[in-house]
Amino acid sequence: MSVRIRADLEGIPGYVPGRTIPGAIKLASNESGVGPLPSVAKALESAGELINRYPDNNATSLTGKLAAKFGVDPRNVVVGCGSVMLCQELIQAVCTAEQRVAFGWRSFEAYPLLARTIGAEPVMVPNTASHALDLRSLAEAINADAESVGLVFVCTPNNPTGTTLGADEIEEFVAAVPSHVTVVLDEAYREFAVDGSPDGTRFLTDAHGNPRDNVVVLRTFSKAYGLAGLRVGYAIGHPRLLDAVRAVHVPFTVNSLALAAAEASLDAEAELAERVADVVAERGRVIDELRAAGIEVVDSQANFVWLPLGDDTPRFDEFMTERKVIVRAFAADGARVTISTPADNDAFLSAAREWAAAERA
Ligand SMILES: Cc1ncc(COP(=O)(O)O)c(C=O)c1O
Repeated sequence: MSVRIRADLEGIPGYVPGRTIPGAIKLASNESGVGPLPSVAKALESAGELINRYPDNNATSLTGKLAAKFGVDPRNVVVGCGSVMLCQELIQAVCTAEQRVAFGWRSFEAYPLLARTIGAEPVMVPNTASHALDLRSLAEAINADAESVGLVFVCTPNNPTGTTLGADEIEEFVAAVPSHVTVVLDEAYREFAVDGSPDGTRFLTDAHGNPRDNVVVLRTFSKAYGLAGLRVGYAIGHPRLLDAVRAVHVPFTVNSLALAAAEASLDAEAELAERVADVVAERGRVIDELRAAGIEVVDSQANFVWLPLGDDTPRFDEFMTERKVIVRAFAADGARVTISTPADNDAFLSAAREWAAAERA
C-alpha cells in the first residue's frame, strides 16, 4: 500500500518560477530591480520586533488604510498572501470541481494551474493577432456554456503581453457575462499603466452606480512597490464575494513584516511615483532601442516587454542565458523581459542587439 494521491494532480505540472542563476541578471519575474521604497525599508527594521506574535489575521490596519485609499468600506477589501493566493481563494470561493475557469491566453501562467488545483477545467481563449486579450471571444466562450463557468480572469495590463483594455471593452464584457460568473480584474501591473486605460475599480459598480457583486479587482505590493519577497496583495470587491474569500482564507498567511511593509508603502506614494516614472521611462527606451535593432516588441503598459518570437523563442532564451541575461521564455510563443535598472536594461539591450545582428548575418 502506498499513499493515495488525487489522480488528476498528475496532469498538473506545477508553477515554474523565473530562473535565478548566480551572477546573471534576472529579468524573468517582473520584480522591481531595486529594493523596497526607502521609507519602507526603515519601517521593516522596527517590524521585526513583532515576530514572536501571530500576525493580525484580519489585517485590520492595512485593510482600513486600503479602504480609505479607494473610498470604500473595509468589508470591500481583503488582503492575501500575494495576489496569487487571492486568485486561488477566489476560485475556491466560487467554483466547484465540476466548473470551469476562463481566461485569455497567453496570460498569467498560474491561472490554469490554480484552476486545476481544485479540479476545475480551464477555458483558454486565444489573444488577438496584436497580442491583446480578446474579450468578445472570451464572452462568447463563456456564454456557449455559461452554467459551467464559475470565474473568469481578465488581466490588464496583461502578463506577459503588456497590453491593456479600454473602458468600453471591459464594460461590454461585464455586461455580456452572466451575473453568476465572477469577473476578476487582475491589475498586478496597474501602477505602470500610463495610457489612460481605466482603473478596474470603476467596474465594481454598474452605469447606475449599483454595486456589482460579481466583479473584483486584484492588486499587489509585489511589483511597483518592490515587495515580491514579502507576499502581500489585496482584492477590492463586494462584501458578499469577499466574505466567501475570507471563509476559505488560510489563517495567518499574511505575515507581520508584510503587513508593516505594505502599510508603510501606502504612506510613501511620492516615492512610489518616482519609482514608477523611472520604470516607465526605461520601458520607453528599451522598446525604442529594440525596435531600432529590428526586433519586434509589443507596446507595453507594464514593467516588462513582450517579444513575440514564435518558434525562435527557445533559441533566443539560450542566447540570452549564455550572455547571463535571464528572460522568461514561453515555448514557441515569445519571451517576456522585465524592465529593471538602466544598467540591467543596458545588459539586455546589448545582448539583444547581438542577437539581431547574428540573425541578420
Ligand atoms: C498577472 C499577475 N497576477 C498576479 C500575480 C501574483 O503576484 P503576487 O502573488 O506576487 O501578488 C502575478 C505575478 O507575477 C501576475 O503576473
